[in-house]
Amino acid sequence: MSTVPTQSPQTYPIDRIRADFPALQQQIRGKPLVYLDNAASAQKPNQVIDTLADFYRHDFSNIHRSVHTLGERATAKYEAARDTVRRFLNARQTEEIVFVRGTTEAINLVAQSFGGSQFKEGDEILISAMEHHSNIVPWQMVCQQTGARLRVVPINDHGELILEEYQRLLGSRTRLVSITHMSNALGTLNPVKEIIDLAHTREIPVLLDGAQAVPHLPVDVQALDCDFYAFSGHKLYGPTGIGVLYGKRELLEAMPPWQGGGEMIRTVTFEKTEYNELPYKFEAGTPAIAEAVGLGAAIDYVEAIGWDHIAAHEHALIEYATEMVHTIPGLGIIGTAAEKGAILSFALDRVHPHDIGTFLDHYGIAVRAGHHCAMPVMDFFKVPATARASFGIYNTLEEVDQLIHAIKEIIKVFG
Ligand code: ALA
Repeated sequence: MSTVPTQSPQTYPIDRIRADFPALQQQIRGKPLVYLDNAASAQKPNQVIDTLADFYRHDFSNIHRSVHTLGERATAKYEAARDTVRRFLNARQTEEIVFVRGTTEAINLVAQSFGGSQFKEGDEILISAMEHHSNIVPWQMVCQQTGARLRVVPINDHGELILEEYQRLLGSRTRLVSITHMSNALGTLNPVKEIIDLAHTREIPVLLDGAQAVPHLPVDVQALDCDFYAFSGHKLYGPTGIGVLYGKRELLEAMPPWQGGGEMIRTVTFEKTEYNELPYKFEAGTPAIAEAVGLGAAIDYVEAIGWDHIAAHEHALIEYATEMVHTIPGLGIIGTAAEKGAILSFALDRVHPHDIGTFLDHYGIAVRAGHHCAMPVMDFFKVPATARASFGIYNTLEEVDQLIHAIKEIIKVFG
């Protein structure tokens, strides 16, 4: 049992939630699995697994093409999933919801389509120093193509974005701001409403990388007034290979297609192609049909638990984990922002993070060890890598205790 009373509401149905996830029922190296690698990818509940299997068993067909019953059924389910996503993000219209492979593809789409058609020599794109590579490299690529320049908002020693610097860097040359909603390496939650409002005073559009945020908090794109929002299904207890780009209709309308092929066209001759309407203009080729349907099931699952419950539960986990690691000598937390999600990145004196990860695996504990696809963050904190425990809806305070116990064992072994 945990030694600290939980703030998590007594009503949180942790046993029922855990029972929904078959992967959690297994043993790893003779120990019950403690899965703390949710920021990399989350496990899937039966509701998602069954939705995928049932769809393939009964409803599968290509979509938007055939008039036969299965074609219509599959199309209806795919489009119903789009509407679930629209509701999930509180977007105005389903036309604003583009299915993509994941956050990375969504950002590449905006970089190539919006950036490729708009950026010119001397234009500036503003990102932050805490971005994942997927919110750095696509912009570097479009900068090379267009002569635009990447500017980086610095962070402080807690891993928080320095707002004054952001304001200073927002200028007449800024064409787009692209910032993470929640940092995957540090857990920092950015003041996104303020970031957006400041950019909008200069009519600069803002893209939010929501890959880490959507599993932990409700997102309302209308209330935020963001111009683009990207997220992945697999971190939200949904399938891999499916993600979402939300874009304001007027922006998406004005953007050229990114990839060409089937589905994104209205008519094709060898002389001229007329493009399809939104959102199909951006969905060339056969999409991840079953995965989109599975994402709809994942959203339904998370919403049925309720954001208040999830937030309180995960807050209790990260608070407790942080309090407990403070008692471990030689352990440093990387990322101590005042506003932080359920991610604990840490380093130990004299033990390489990869050794921490390998050692923890012997206790059945899964964490990620590495640079977390955020090498500039590692450079800033002058560490080669960190070990990262990232929490989700099914983790428990007892699992935090197991993590703490195992870390103490590592210190004993490595001296
Ligand atoms: N971006 C994922 C992570 O943070 C893969 O681990």
